[in-house]
Amino acid sequence: MEIIILPTAEDVAQLAADIFEQYARKGATLGLATGSTPVAMYTELIRRHKEEGLSFAQSKAFLLDEYVGLAKEHDQSYYATIRREFTNHIDIDDAHVHSPDGTADDIPAAGIAYDHAIKEAGGVDIQLLGIGTDGHIGFNEPGSALTSRTRLKTLHPQTIEDNSRFFDSPEEVPIHVLTQGLGTISEAKHLLLLATGEGKADAICATVEGPLAAVCPASVLQLHPKATLIVDEAAASKLEHADYYRFAFEHNPAWK
Ligand code: GLP
Repeated sequence: MEIIILPTAEDVAQLAADIFEQYARKGATLGLATGSTPVAMYTELIRRHKEEGLSFAQSKAFLLDEYVGLAKEHDQSYYATIRREFTNHIDIDDAHVHSPDGTADDIPAAGIAYDHAIKEAGGVDIQLLGIGTDGHIGFNEPGSALTSRTRLKTLHPQTIEDNSRFFDSPEEVPIHVLTQGLGTISEAKHLLLLATGEGKADAICATVEGPLAAVCPASVLQLHPKATLIVDEAAASKLEHADYYRFAFEHNPAWK
């Protein structure tokens, strides 16, 4: 894992956009994430598309997860969210923006079909990740098998509370979701996790310096050969080895 600590959330967004841009230029298959953390990176990529001609026309995209039972047209479905916040503003073909089908009659079959679609596309080249306050990635809540595939999950009450800010009331947040599994996510060639703000400090500490354990699903990144975590000072505030990560970043020839 490479842990990159930057002063502000804006710095996190800029560096993440630099990394994503390199993949877009190669027409890579992009793994997208919802949540508020990646929005600043998406905004910067939209700016580079509009002002600098950065093209996504050769890329395909796969979203991490979806609420079960929420119509695609619902403004909080992840299908609608990723279009509103990112893909409608760039030149990616909308038919190439995929997400798990949370409205399917047969949810387990929809999960299997989604994993199959990712494989058919040649796999995800770079997977963007946020992190929940309980250490979830995608919607893999604590206790998720580290080898899990795309499947139905029940949200943790903490996640329902965290995400209720996007709905009129907590009762409207769906309890079930269809999410790429930790095994599915781990097959992406590069994992890029972003975290900003003090509220993520415990989850980042458990991810980076805790044991590899299903209780902190994001700790599965410890097994990945190419995982990059970009965090701001607030999210890094509980890391015991923060000075070492800064030193290693400053001396990493790849960033020169
Ligand atoms: C949701 C999403 C995750 C995201 C998390 C954190 O639960 N399923 O993919 O990482 O929210 O979101 P935020 O960035 O808004 O804190």
